[in-house]
Amino acid sequence: MQDQDKIVIYDYGSQYTFLIARKLRELGVYSEIIDGRNTKTVDDPRIRGVILSGSPDSVKNQDAPSLPQWVLDANLPVLGICYGMQILSYALGGEVESLEKREYGGERIEITSRDSQLGSLLFKDTPSSQVVWMSHGDEVVMLPTGFDYHAFTPQVKAAGVADIERNIFGLQFHPEVEHTQEGRVILKNFVEKVCGLKTAPRSISVDQITNEIREQVEQYDNKSVAIAAVSGGVDSTVASALVAKALGKRFIPIFCNNGLMRYGTDKEVRMIFQDILGVKPMIVNCKKDFLRALKDVADPEKKRIIIGKKYIDTFVKAAEHIPHAKFLVQGTIYSDVIESKGSEHAHKIKSHHNVGGLPKNLTFTLIEPLRSCYKDEVRMIGRRLGLPEWVTQKQPFPGPGYAIRIIGKVTEQRLLKEIQADQIVCDVLKKHGMYDKVFQSFAIMTGALSTAVKGDGRIYGEVVAIRVYDSSDVMTAGWSHLPYDIMQELSTRIVNEVEGVSRVVYDITTKPPATMEWE
Ligand code: XMP
Repeated sequence: MQDQDKIVIYDYGSQYTFLIARKLRELGVYSEIIDGRNTKTVDDPRIRGVILSGSPDSVKNQDAPSLPQWVLDANLPVLGICYGMQILSYALGGEVESLEKREYGGERIEITSRDSQLGSLLFKDTPSSQVVWMSHGDEVVMLPTGFDYHAFTPQVKAAGVADIERNIFGLQFHPEVEHTQEGRVILKNFVEKVCGLKTAPRSISVDQITNEIREQVEQYDNKSVAIAAVSGGVDSTVASALVAKALGKRFIPIFCNNGLMRYGTDKEVRMIFQDILGVKPMIVNCKKDFLRALKDVADPEKKRIIIGKKYIDTFVKAAEHIPHAKFLVQGTIYSDVIESKGSEHAHKIKSHHNVGGLPKNLTFTLIEPLRSCYKDEVRMIGRRLGLPEWVTQKQPFPGPGYAIRIIGKVTEQRLLKEIQADQIVCDVLKKHGMYDKVFQSFAIMTGALSTAVKGDGRIYGEVVAIRVYDSSDVMTAGWSHLPYDIMQELSTRIVNEVEGVSRVVYDITTKPPATMEWE
């Protein structure tokens, strides 16, 4: 990795910065993210181009991050995305103004000069009219000298601009977001045709990963043991399965059964580790403890903090009973790394408890075999290790589990309703072959009450919402257009089978603005 050519990405705080790195990575191109407030000159002959990210800031704000002078002086190809394009234009003498109304969501751009000699190479091999993802409150209203317009929308004249002579490009939209139809081709054109880099898919060897794990542990001594906190999710399971393959009985997976994880996860953990991989897991039953800690807590962020802390306490106590525990396996994947590091000033949206990690005073040495892998690569490794599809194709599940799908206070009764309703969503979607096709699907105990007549009597029961959506980059999502008969089956089964539920509603909000989870 060290000697590779690379692209430098300046992170101005956009939620999407890590997606730029991800898209480049998928193309086999190495990139490094630099904090957008760091204006120090980077003198590295391996840099082939610079990408400037978007930002929640406005170039005219006094303390807005600026463009490092070396970027302009180095004569390297530059691509400015959204704020990146505005800061480029501003620095080069163009003008940027606020829009009266923020432009947000899918827009159609028309390409003006795709095929001509002077056309922007970025749009090569893409249609002359295409849908892109916009998210901006400012626009470039006057271009710097040397720049031309290459793409526009009805509202925005400068949707794509370039100074072809100097290899400087600007896009008002986000090519890194999945909803930009030709985003991958546009970024590929930038790295290949403008920066002159070769693109190629990456190859992964399971044997190489397990050999590396073995070396890491064996060079320490011959009795130390590795432990892991497994959640039943794909990442921790595949990471642990790799370590189980490498170390056998010198590895002990620990599952804290707090009652908030997908129902039946304890049985699954036994099946995966004991039956398939031949390694006995330690199961810690701690549901009562967690429910006690959550008693009367309604605030979602407080719930996350309490669960995060309790989880760590429980895990650390369990680990104390394991002699020679020296190594700790974590299911960190590449998007976790760039998501928590790469966008340090992205506006805080939710405190994902598993990003904060374990306390600093723990003396374990980390084993993170998936640190450089993306989700699809993790699933592929899982399949190569012989894990069944129901493991590798599992939908993501949040660390705080059902607690953030029960709006307001979490009680034993509401948890039971949530588990039952969620099981029904899972069963019905699997039965109709939809479970693997959507990104996530689940039930929410909304906390709202409504009237229903069930059997002979009226009840004033809880409203259950169902959220099912499609996404490939987590940052954006559209609600799934499930066939009506599947929605009907979900609704009928939930009101009939789950006691105390009066009504079922279907959430049809996109992300953004709404987050995937309700809390
Ligand atoms: P949001 O709700 O932020 O969710 O649109 C994006 C993805 O993150 C998951 N999520 C969490 N995962 N701890 C986690 O480990 C959390 O606190 C948390 N909150 C949301 C969510 O399920 C979705 O996949």
